[in-house]
Amino acid sequence: MPAVKVPRREAEPVKRRLKKLNLYDGKRRPRREDEYVLLPVIEDGRVYSLGYEVLPVELPLRPERQIYKNLESVLAERLSREELKYLRRYDVMGDIAVIQIPPELEHRIEDIVWGLRKVHPFLKVIARKGFHEGAFRIRDYSIIWGEERLETVHRENGVQIKVDLSKAFFNPRMKGERYRLAQLVRDGERVLIPFAGVLPYALVVARYRRVKITAVELNKEAYELGLENVERNRKRLKGEIEFLHGDAFKVLPELPSYDRVVSPTPRGVDALALTLSKAERWLHYYDFVHEGEIERFRARILEECLKLGRDCAVRVKKVSDFKPHVFKVCADVEVR
Ligand SMILES: C[S@@+](CC[C@H](N)C(=O)[O-])C[C@H]1O[C@@H](n2cnc3c(N)ncnc32)[C@H](O)[C@@H]1O
Repeated sequence: MPAVKVPRREAEPVKRRLKKLNLYDGKRRPRREDEYVLLPVIEDGRVYSLGYEVLPVELPLRPERQIYKNLESVLAERLSREELKYLRRYDVMGDIAVIQIPPELEHRIEDIVWGLRKVHPFLKVIARKGFHEGAFRIRDYSIIWGEERLETVHRENGVQIKVDLSKAFFNPRMKGERYRLAQLVRDGERVLIPFAGVLPYALVVARYRRVKITAVELNKEAYELGLENVERNRKRLKGEIEFLHGDAFKVLPELPSYDRVVSPTPRGVDALALTLSKAERWLHYYDFVHEGEIERFRARILEECLKLGRDCAVRVKKVSDFKPHVFKVCADVEVR
């Protein structure tokens, strides 16, 4: 696979350009080599006409893809090629693996369990993933192997996060996004996080930065797990976390404004005006947007800024794919 070789200081803008052109290969990891960075790109003739040095390098797959690949190769022993096409990505949280099983693989559950245990011998629970339900965005899971529990301790970004998938929302795939946010935050900031769940964003930001965070969550069980998580990580955290139980739409109007607001907004909830009104310098607003609607989403945020009499710059970043043509996005809004 090709990789583009660029000086380190140019890596970020070049990566952005490659992403914009849909040439960046997000499945692979970039690699640093002395004063240069090798950026993975897809096999496409356009890569060679951009004026960069292009090298044939086999950059490694990102770990989650590697894991997936292993399951696929393990299952190749038992499943047909046709069946393998239906195999979905799965997640491992602590000692629990969760996987979506489409109707086409219904008769292969035992083989999938066998494959997952072979790839991850430490697993204690394997659950089948249903859909997110209700305002608390809890997924519907059924255990297909192992102990009868959906509670575990997940490790990411140097923190331990106790989760209970039957009681509260948690998405391990946002690990990279949480790290990105933590790197944007500066020591000394006051940060507000509504829709905070069991506190993954707050913990990761506080792990890296000396900040004061106020987090808000409505689901009592998520709130209690979050409090436990603050205690569990106390020695690891540089920052402080104040956690409030309540409805963000009632609690936020009573709070002051903050340097930065991070809104992991539940799907279907419009909290743009609410969260923007609390942001003095930055808002990171998550939403689910059809790829054809991204410009309109950006325009809506700019309109909301105008209504509040603020001059804003908005950059919308695709964070993950949600369903065909629909992405989870993060609008990084700079309030000037
Ligand atoms: C998409 S989840 C994000 C949770 C967490 N930030 C994470 O990433 O794991 C949205 C969260 O908002 C909470 N929630 C929903 N409506 C709320 C409200 N009106 N006020 C506060 N929290 C709310 C849900 O219980 C859920 O934990």
